[in-house]
Amino acid sequence: MIKKGIILSGGLGTRMSPLTKAVNKQLLPIYDKPLIFYPLSVLMLSKIKNILIVVNKGQLHQYKKLLPNGKNLGINISYIEQSKPRGLPDAFILGEKFIGKDNVALILGDNFFYGQNLTSKLLKCVKLKKGAKVLLHKVNDPDKYGVAKIKRNKIIKIVEKPKKFISDYAITGLYFFDNKVINFSKKLRPSRRGEIEITDLLNHYKKNNNLYADFIGRGGAWLDTGSIEDFYKTSSFVSAIENRQGFKIACLEEISLMNQWIGKKEIQNSIKFYGKCEYSNYLKKLIKNFKKKK
Ligand code: DAU
Repeated sequence: MIKKGIILSGGLGTRMSPLTKAVNKQLLPIYDKPLIFYPLSVLMLSKIKNILIVVNKGQLHQYKKLLPNGKNLGINISYIEQSKPRGLPDAFILGEKFIGKDNVALILGDNFFYGQNLTSKLLKCVKLKKGAKVLLHKVNDPDKYGVAKIKRNKIIKIVEKPKKFISDYAITGLYFFDNKVINFSKKLRPSRRGEIEITDLLNHYKKNNNLYADFIGRGGAWLDTGSIEDFYKTSSFVSAIENRQGFKIACLEEISLMNQWIGKKEIQNSIKFYGKCEYSNYLKKLIKNFKKKK
């Protein structure tokens, strides 16, 4: 079982300046909560309790104000600073000590996942013992992403942001790796854009015949929040679902409660921590229903 996860939450967010001049992109709102709540909720739904968040140098205090150490959520959150965006596999080099001898999941801080079968898919993915696993999703604009060409459900080619069409299966920003990922990452050389590339890392696993793929079908949603337009679209999506159902997407305390990592006391602490707000009102409802069930 993979029990450790990294959220890559640095980057300069240049495309979203001036919004990102003072605040890290992953702390900006997607509807009613900061963006980072969504990838964090995905790791928590995968039953991962040990989480390392990679943040931009100088922005640690912003994150610690929001997510101090995970105690109130029944998880362990630690942080490491990245001095500059050296590329996604840098997460495994920076996270070497955190990973130790274990396997690890990586999620990009700007990725949003939603769908009925998501949790059961995640719980399958964390069973990975050897190799690497990615989740693929069909998109209309594959040139914006890392893309995988598929034959009989197997990946036969991977290209980062292909100029010519090779496939419309985007590689989403959620990856599961065995422990070899640390050494493989250290051997990567920067690409023409000056970064070490996740696609080179995945190609390495592919060459060794142990790269696996699963699919988020059309009933699931994967959104990447790279631009201001994406922020609006994702916010509308969350607002539509939450207001229709009355359930929140990515309420961290709710997931912890479901996982039986916390009880009423921790939720009350969270209510104090967030103060009087709509999110706290939702937490109050959780406590009420929790009492009813007992
Ligand atoms: O979203 C999925 C896509 O993410 C994949 O399909 C691509 O293969 C993968 O390369 C990546 O592409 P992006 O162009 O979206 O990556 P970006 O540079 O925008 O970084 C994604 C997130 O990771 C972003 O929130 C910033 C953070 N980041 C990025 C780099 C390069 C870091 O924290 N540190 C870094 O060094």
